Amino acid sequence: MQEELLQIKNSAMYFIMDAKNPKELEEIKLDFLGRSGKLTLIMKELAKLPMDKRVEIGRLANEVKNAIEDALQTAEDSFSQKKIDKISRIDISEPGILPTLGHLHLVTQAIDEIAQIFARIGFERVRYPEVEWDYFAFEALNFPKNHPARDDWETFFTTETPHARYGPQVLTPHTSNGQIREMVKNVLPIKMLNIAKTYRRQSDISHTLMFHQFETLCVSENISIADLKGTLAYFAKSYFGEKRKTRIRPYHFQFTEPSFEVDISCGLCNGKGCKFCKEGWLELGGAGMVHPNVLKEVGINPKKYAGFASGFGVERVLMMREDMHIDDLRLLYANKLEFLQQF
Ligand code: PHE
Repeated sequence: MQEELLQIKNSAMYFIMDAKNPKELEEIKLDFLGRSGKLTLIMKELAKLPMDKRVEIGRLANEVKNAIEDALQTAEDSFSQKKIDKISRIDISEPGILPTLGHLHLVTQAIDEIAQIFARIGFERVRYPEVEWDYFAFEALNFPKNHPARDDWETFFTTETPHARYGPQVLTPHTSNGQIREMVKNVLPIKMLNIAKTYRRQSDISHTLMFHQFETLCVSENISIADLKGTLAYFAKSYFGEKRKTRIRPYHFQFTEPSFEVDISCGLCNGKGCKFCKEGWLELGGAGMVHPNVLKEVGINPKKYAGFASGFGVERVLMMREDMHIDDLRLLYANKLEFLQQF
């Protein structure tokens, strides 16, 4: 019986080692320890042995039983451990997790769209300094020395030593410096679109200290107000929709004569008049025919050439799109992802 027990132990160990999966282990368990398992049957035989033998063989049988149970347990554990290993192992054939993708800022998208619209009618985008000398931002644009726009409270001045010829240094308060920068080159005709950052000392629901403007300038022979109107109408229809109409109203700028403010028909009431627009029109920005003084300043003969110019705010036109529903301009630069991700 002793030998039989040892044999049972050996064969059980062999089978356990050889088991391929938990199911096989289950079968082995039944085969040895089940109700009619090999070891169970032998243990039943124990009762027939004389007392002294019974104790000795009984102890051995128990040892064999424990050994088989331990081996079964260890094998089971290693199977479930394999399962865990399999889960945590890197499967390089699995599709990866895409990193989150960003997108261009809302204002950059608007700038690109505006540039594309004007490119279709031949306006070439240019870039000029956004930290500029007074001469280009004011002086050459026919601003008198005491004009309020030159006031500290309207314009940011830097601490840079003033230029001997061009005067103090400013952060561009408008993109009209681009007109001078373009015209002093004296390469005609001119059809430029200057989109740049502009700075003014104003911050509230519809103003940020930094904003953007887009400035058109067209200088050639035979340029009239009709060209200005046509260009602005083309922009308004392309950017806001075919149904929108534009109109110009007399206004005043130092560097244009005549000067206008440009309005667009309200998209909510289609020009009839509503709470949003009051009389059917919304203000887009400024425009006019380049002032003869400005042409003279840059060495262009005002008798031979004429030009029109316009300057609108990028953020302003963006907010005026009915589908935008942005009620505070400052949100554009608050860098809140929850806001920016919507666009
Ligand atoms: N520079 C003017 C402004 O910022 C706009 C403008 C541009 C007006 C060109 C006329 C011509 O208000």
